[in-house]
Amino acid sequence: MGWYEDDDVWVGFADVMFPPHRFAEAERLVAGSPLLKVAAGDRVLDLACGPGTHVVPLARHGAVVTGVDLSEAMLVRAREACERARVRARLVRADMREHVEPGAYDLVVNMYTSFGYFTDPGDNLVVLRNVHTSLAPGGRLLVDVMGKEVFAGWVGRPQAVDVDGGTVYMRDTVLDDWTRLRSDWTWVRGDEVRRTSLHSTLYSAAELRGLFEAVGFTDVECFGDFDASPYDNHARRLIVRGTRA
Ligand SMILES: C[S@@+](CC[C@H](N)C(=O)[O-])C[C@H]1O[C@@H](n2cnc3c(N)ncnc32)[C@H](O)[C@@H]1O
Repeated sequence: MGWYEDDDVWVGFADVMFPPHRFAEAERLVAGSPLLKVAAGDRVLDLACGPGTHVVPLARHGAVVTGVDLSEAMLVRAREACERARVRARLVRADMREHVEPGAYDLVVNMYTSFGYFTDPGDNLVVLRNVHTSLAPGGRLLVDVMGKEVFAGWVGRPQAVDVDGGTVYMRDTVLDDWTRLRSDWTWVRGDEVRRTSLHSTLYSAAELRGLFEAVGFTDVECFGDFDASPYDNHARRLIVRGTRA
C-alpha cells in the first residue's frame, strides 16, 4: 500500500493539514487570485480535493465542480462542507492515476502539494496525461506544490506546530539526490503519540514545466504565488499552469 492510501495520514493529521484558516484562505484565493478565477458555468475538476477546501469556494463562484479524491473519509468531509455551505458539487472516489473524462473540463486544479506522490516517475506523468485528456481544448491545468528551490531555503530546520492541545514535530529528509522528500511528522498530545511519514517528489520549476510540456501542454508558465507573481527568489510556492491546445 502506498503511504498516500492510508487514511490515518489524512484523517489522523487533518487538524494539521486542513485547519480552519486554510478554508478561509481558499475562499480568499478563489475570490481574488488571477490564477483561480472562474466564471459561472466553468467546468472545474479539483483533483485530490481533500475535505473540499477549494471545492466549496469554486462552487460558490458558480463553477460546476467535480472533486476527485482517493480517500472516502476526505470525500465525506467534502460532502459535509458542501452541505454546510449549501453548494452543489460532484464528488468522486478515484485514483488520480486512473481518473480520465475526455474533454470534460475547462480548468483542473491540483492544490497544496497533491502531486508527485508516486515513487515511479511514470505514474506522476500518467496523472498529467490523464488531466490533459480530461481538458477541453483551451482548458488549463494548475498544479500547486512546494518548489525545490523554495524548499532548499528552509530544509533541515526542525519545525514544531502547536495544534489542538498538542504539538506536531516535522522533520524533512531529502532523498535520492534531491529528487524525493520524506517528511516525518510526530504528534504529541499528553500521553498520545501519533506518527506518519509523507513522501513526495521534489520538482524544480524547470522539471515540472518539462513534464507539462512532455504530455503536450502549451503556454506553460511558472508562478511563485497565487497573485501570479514570478517564480523567483521571493516565491512561496511553485504553481505551474499549462493549456491544452
Ligand atoms: C495534501 S492533501 C490536499 C487536499 C486539497 N487539495 C487541499 O488543498 O486541501 C492531498 C489529498 O490527496 C489525496 N490523494 C492521495 N493520493 C491520491 C490518489 N492516488 N488519487 C487521488 N487522490 C489522492 C488524499 O486523499 C488527500 O486528500
